[in-house]
Amino acid sequence: MRLAQRVAAIQPSATLTINAKARALKQCGVQVINFGVGEPDFDTPYHIQEAAVESIKNGRTRYTPVGGIDELKDAVCGTIQADYGLSFQQDNVLISCGGKHALYNLFQAVLDPGDEVVIPSPYWVSYPDMVRLAGAVPITVPCPEANGYKLPPGKLEEAITKKTRMFIMNSPSNPTGVHYGRDELAALAEVLLPHEDLLIVCDDIYYRILFRNQEWVNMAMAEERLRDRTFIVNGVSKSYCMTGWRIGYLVGHADAVRAATKIQGQSTSNPSSISQWASVTALREDQGVVDEMVKVFEKRCDYVLERIRALPGVSCPAPDGAFYVFPNFSTYYGKKTGGRVVRNSLDLADYLMEKAHVAVVPGNAFGEDRCIRLSYALSMEDLKEGFDRVESAVGALV
Ligand SMILES: Cc1ncc(COP(=O)(O)O)c(C=O)c1O
Repeated sequence: MRLAQRVAAIQPSATLTINAKARALKQCGVQVINFGVGEPDFDTPYHIQEAAVESIKNGRTRYTPVGGIDELKDAVCGTIQADYGLSFQQDNVLISCGGKHALYNLFQAVLDPGDEVVIPSPYWVSYPDMVRLAGAVPITVPCPEANGYKLPPGKLEEAITKKTRMFIMNSPSNPTGVHYGRDELAALAEVLLPHEDLLIVCDDIYYRILFRNQEWVNMAMAEERLRDRTFIVNGVSKSYCMTGWRIGYLVGHADAVRAATKIQGQSTSNPSSISQWASVTALREDQGVVDEMVKVFEKRCDYVLERIRALPGVSCPAPDGAFYVFPNFSTYYGKKTGGRVVRNSLDLADYLMEKAHVAVVPGNAFGEDRCIRLSYALSMEDLKEGFDRVESAVGALV
């Protein structure tokens, strides 16, 4: 079959591939500890489930406006007002089928072939390919581990050319969990300000999962003069354990939001009506459920860091949020066991899967081959068992 050229230019999602491998092993009866998961391990809170059931019973089961129901747009504006201190109206909001879809629509709406998009690396696996699908060129910029894998302003400056159209930020980050503070954002803003055509995308999907009472801040909050050209992408997947419900949103300049809505209108149309009504409840009702989940993730994070730092030669910046760690295991590259050499993150992930029945995502998928990504959206028992297995597997490498 002759396929379109754009398919050859992109990779399958590495995280989805790992999860499929782990599932296949599990189906064969193997007890796999899956550190590859990209979603909270809790059920959607009960009151949100109830809202969905009610919406079905009340006949809210038909097409909705392409860009989402007004009630959800209002709930999004209310959330952004409360959590960001920023005012938006319905025409600044698009409701899409997940944050991923909101990003996709935005890229399709504002990027032209040849435009460059600056992406700090390590990055979330989907950014470069979504940029390519819009015909644009991803420019990934390696960020030093010593800086917590955050982008130094000088490196941003070096990466910007006449073709740069967009800069993508993801804080707290997938895969590192690190979060940019107000001063760090202000320093990056100084670089961005003179480039008036450059759009900024803040992927804030993990913003509620912040530890140690850290201040929530993003670029639009840190630098008022960048507000008009900053887009916020967010959703209910991670904060409310609603990954399967597929609701995300885009907030920003009305022209771009209108254009992204037009794209959505010729592809998926509206996201599920039932999920939209459930999301109204998620955003408007009891937020205590989110705080409880964050407390659990913070405890697990402390445990995971302790275990990682006990592994000889492994380094890892402390995450500020999300539910991932991104340790540097490169000290083990070149070592072997039973004639098998571990050369890179892919080899290490394969080795851990086969030897220890532990699934991790190789760092090369995130642009940093020295690392692997581990999710701690797992019970404490599984985390303990998983780290016991990792410890003994890497201990066998000489
Ligand atoms: C950084 C980042 N952005 C966006 C998403 C998309 O989430 P969803 O499409 O479920 O809203 C994810 C999911 O893994 C993510 O890690």
